[in-house]
Amino acid sequence: MANQERILQDIEVLRRITEPCACGTQRPSYTPEYRRAVDYVKGRMEEFGLKTREDNAGNLYGVLAGSQEDAPKILSGSHLDSVKCSGAYDGIAGVLCALEAARMVAESGRPLRHPLEVMGTIGEEGTRFGQALIGSQLVEGSWGEAQLDAFRGLEDGLTLREAMQAYGLPGSTKGVCRRNEQVKAFVELHDEQGPILENEGVSIGVVENIVAISWMHIKVKGLASHPGTIPMSMRHDACVGACKLICAATDYAREHYDGEATVTAGKLEVFPGNTNCIPSQCKFTIDIRTCNGDYRDDLVRFIQEKKARVEEECRVSIEVCEGMRQSPTALNPKVQQCIEEACKKLGYSWRRMNSGAGHDAMIFARIWPAAMVFVQSHNGLTHHPDEYVPPKELAKGADVLYETFRLLDAQPDE
Ligand code: GLV
Ligand code: MN
Ligand code: MN
Repeated sequence: MANQERILQDIEVLRRITEPCACGTQRPSYTPEYRRAVDYVKGRMEEFGLKTREDNAGNLYGVLAGSQEDAPKILSGSHLDSVKCSGAYDGIAGVLCALEAARMVAESGRPLRHPLEVMGTIGEEGTRFGQALIGSQLVEGSWGEAQLDAFRGLEDGLTLREAMQAYGLPGSTKGVCRRNEQVKAFVELHDEQGPILENEGVSIGVVENIVAISWMHIKVKGLASHPGTIPMSMRHDACVGACKLICAATDYAREHYDGEATVTAGKLEVFPGNTNCIPSQCKFTIDIRTCNGDYRDDLVRFIQEKKARVEEECRVSIEVCEGMRQSPTALNPKVQQCIEEACKKLGYSWRRMNSGAGHDAMIFARIWPAAMVFVQSHNGLTHHPDEYVPPKELAKGADVLYETFRLLDAQPDE
């Protein structure tokens, strides 16, 4: 069975590999802290006999040899980057539980037939560049050289290529894409990031679908002036325009799609930012999620329509730019079945569910049979320093990965 202490030790080490910040763990991609995390995980992989490498995107791989060298690989892992002021589990738990399952295979004295590759991907969160799933999209191949120059750091203005170079990579996508590789399956463990498993007292979530995600970057332009001299009816207040659009979109989602779709404005910047100044500009983001592509299209349509009305009402101009657009993803039924079989064998409770969060598995599902294992998140708290997975639930997740790998290994290759 999985060694709980071993997983926790690594969780706690990685929790502390963070940019100095007010709260939690903060580890954006291509930073010195990210390098330290990669070096730590790489060292742990090597201790247990995994052969490691990093690709030009900064993704980390560690392979445990199988008895049949040319058999397709079984892949498992998640991301090593984090959002701002994050907890210690989002992404990391998936890498460390995959590593624990690999250690269990290594220690069992019964190697798998298929090579087992543990992955730690980069740039999943979108924190630094406003674009998520960077490492996985470069591996999957829908991103290439063009994207390295197309996206810039939101705070430092460096292009993705420049950030890669500053991190010590060559600034090229050469050798990163793996879409032509034969892969048996990709299995990603993640904390649920929601309250359902814990509330129902169920240990394992077997994910069927991952939501569609749209990100919109919206800029409202008004006119700065004095807050005490300009009558309310004569203003061009950018912040009021932004707030009206945010409230309209969130109200619309609640009224029409409660439980089916979400709309969130998670980042809002007001310029010039004086207490005694009518805001001249307000930039904000909208994040839309739903497993139904039609609902997403309707929400995008609503925001575009409402934008025109707010422009008129608030005497402002509004630019809407759709930043990221991912379709809903159905995961592989055969791999889901293996995860359920593994739960049965171990006597762990499980249920099927959808994921409201985005994951690398949604990208890899385009080229490989992909599936996800969820473990409990205490109080559903995530993207928050107090994110917590009970250690015994984390160990159950690693056990499920181990048994799933054994079941996949026993199946003939197609
Ligand atoms: C990743 O955490 C996402 O769902 O945005
Ligand atoms: Mn996340
Ligand atoms: Mn994550």
